[in-house]
Amino acid sequence: MDISGKTKLYALIGDPVSHSISPKMHNTAFEENEIDGRYLAFQADQENLKETVDALKRLGVRGWNVTMPCKSLMAEYCDVLSKEAQISGAVNTVVNDNGVLTGYSTDGIGFFRNLKEQGLDITGKKIILAGAGGAARAIAAQAALEDIGELVIFNRTVEKAEKVIDDISEEAEKRNIKISAKDLYDREALKKDLEDAYLFINATSVGMNPELGEERLLEPEWLPSQLNVADIVYNPIETELLKAAKERGCNTINGLGMVLWQGAYAFNYWTGTEFPVEIVKEQVFDVS
Ligand code: ATR
Repeated sequence: MDISGKTKLYALIGDPVSHSISPKMHNTAFEENEIDGRYLAFQADQENLKETVDALKRLGVRGWNVTMPCKSLMAEYCDVLSKEAQISGAVNTVVNDNGVLTGYSTDGIGFFRNLKEQGLDITGKKIILAGAGGAARAIAAQAALEDIGELVIFNRTVEKAEKVIDDISEEAEKRNIKISAKDLYDREALKKDLEDAYLFINATSVGMNPELGEERLLEPEWLPSQLNVADIVYNPIETELLKAAKERGCNTINGLGMVLWQGAYAFNYWTGTEFPVEIVKEQVFDVS
């Protein structure tokens, strides 16, 4: 589609952004849905975030995604926050309604939507989440809004896991979800929790750099074959964890789905139209 005087701009802000797949995803979706919009990536950091947001508002940019290191600060500049953005304290998607900014966190909802698409039913189930960084927070915040049975967060720095648990406790209590924080280095506890879990999620950065000979989060023999194993790392698509889980007979879910679905929700909030998931999968991720 041609760029016109009415073309709406959408953006990604953060640092780094040059490697991001989001421009390709959203521009493909605009074209497919015949929406007169374009999505560009702009570098921004915490020092100039306020200025950047003011500029986006001034230019009437309809919506934007926010990535590292700006997700938490962006929450402070929004006029309205969705429930999961309030709980996680982070915003990855902003809708600009004539200067009124609504902030969402679509990573968690995207993650759980992908599980559903993959045929998983998490109702009443026990979930183990490894990690307590930004991505893990988003997943934990959404987990507290789903009807799961139990969430156990394991992290190397256990205090960070405890903080996440504390932040989600009010919502989890409302739904009778059992929650706890544990030390990732407590191997016996992890091994035991894996025995009766439905799903294990790696939301740490372990797996991104296999060439560095990273240490393992867990031993493959701790993975029972009925366990579902998900990784948020999508480069490489098949991490060492997923490879090991497959060999153990586990069902595995790679990190592409979360990237795809977080974008799908953002796109829908901005445009009110359905994100063409299959087309994007095919044209952007080269999978269908
Ligand atoms: P992201 O935004 O991708 O979540 P992050 O906020 O830097 O990134 O969080 C990285 C997560 O990976 C954290 O949970 C981190 O553990 P700490 O909180 O203890 O730092 C985890 N992590 C990184 N390297 C790790 C390793 N070698 N072993 C275990 N956990 C690791």
